Amino acid sequence: MNASIDFDRRLARFDVRGSQAHARMLGRIGVLSADEVTRIVEGLAAVLGELERGELQLEARLEDIHMNVEARLTQLIGEAGAKLHTARSRNDQVALDLRLYARDAAEVLMARIDALEAALVGQARRTVDVIAPGYTHLQRAQPVRLGHHLLAYFEMLERDRGRLGDAARRAGESPLGAGALAASSFALDRSGVAAELGFHGVTHNSLDAVGDRDFAIELTAACALTATHLSRLGEELVLWASQEFGFARLPEGYCSGSSLMPQKVNPDIPELVRAKVGRVVGDLVTLLMVVKGLPLAYNKDLQETQEPLYDAVETTAQVLGVMAGLVRGLEFDAARLARAVDGGHLTATELADHLVGRGVPFRRAHDQSGAAVRRAIELGVELRALPLDELRAVAPEVGPDVGEWLDPARAADRRDVVGGPARGRVMDEIARAEALLAARLEPSQ
Ligand code: ARG
Repeated sequence: MNASIDFDRRLARFDVRGSQAHARMLGRIGVLSADEVTRIVEGLAAVLGELERGELQLEARLEDIHMNVEARLTQLIGEAGAKLHTARSRNDQVALDLRLYARDAAEVLMARIDALEAALVGQARRTVDVIAPGYTHLQRAQPVRLGHHLLAYFEMLERDRGRLGDAARRAGESPLGAGALAASSFALDRSGVAAELGFHGVTHNSLDAVGDRDFAIELTAACALTATHLSRLGEELVLWASQEFGFARLPEGYCSGSSLMPQKVNPDIPELVRAKVGRVVGDLVTLLMVVKGLPLAYNKDLQETQEPLYDAVETTAQVLGVMAGLVRGLEFDAARLARAVDGGHLTATELADHLVGRGVPFRRAHDQSGAAVRRAIELGVELRALPLDELRAVAPEVGPDVGEWLDPARAADRRDVVGGPARGRVMDEIARAEALLAARLEPSQ
């Protein structure tokens, strides 16, 4: 129960990088000789190599990755290895490793978000001329462009990406030098270590530095929201792929047949995506519960923050990767979507807006349009197919151009405001999204 090696082996490369920076710093302040620093830095690289090649047997007897790495280092280079832990505790060491891990994980997740966003934007461009029913309460409401619907997920993911970036930034203070809890009596160059490891600064309270894991909780929270958004997208794909909707066909590799019913094609992968959020939210709740009530500073409870963090990161990364492939391979059924737009009187609001343009107060126009829909239902036709005289009977102010107003594509295009489904606005947003993604792919100088 005490050993964490089964899961903290994920920290190996961060542990080695952190130890190398620590050793170099001990060299700079005269605690280690130049020769010792070289031997430690090279020895650590050798240990990491062994680990990566699976040559090093990690031992539970040594509890964790920190002790395993140090023990092997000392085996390899002797006495100098035993000096590495000068002016350091496993408490600031693990706090450092986890911050490095969190920052690295955020980068990986953001790159995966970029790939999924690119898939969504690509589909939005391909489907910009497909009109789809927009829904509220899962009832057909107003016509939109399919691309507009897909770009809604782009926006959600952009905010998720921002949250991951925020979490990484706040994890960007080096805790090394906090020691076990009360810092160190050596004249450490904490800023030098921080700069070498890519941190923007150092922590400013040693008890806080070793005693909190809020950066892990924050990253997990960002994962939980990302997974929540992906769960919604998964649900929509399940719906769209159903015979009831029939809006999209999922790429074959993302579906499974039934072991009993030969005709079935089940949307297993979007269903799993929909479900995975449960794990990630569970991870978040676990982390909050582990940390709550802990007295300062370090407590072994904090070891229990590792597994939920890894699980949240790994699950979210997996789901993002799968979703990108799934979205890329979606095939939409434009005819089926058009039929859906054509059933349900989706332009009733347009009729009201048309009447408002002809001087009718909105509330009355709304009632008149409602009466027109009831009349269409009585006659068994769509609102847009209702003859002009029938329309005039319930809404005398109706103009001769009302037919244009009731056309779904024109209805979408009339919603020509920033963030609206008009073709030009959707194209603007596609261009904005593409530019953003392209800029991210450019190497930063
Ligand atoms: N594996 C431990 C953890 O995750 C490392 C720190 C151990 N520190 C201690 N004082 N026992 O927290």
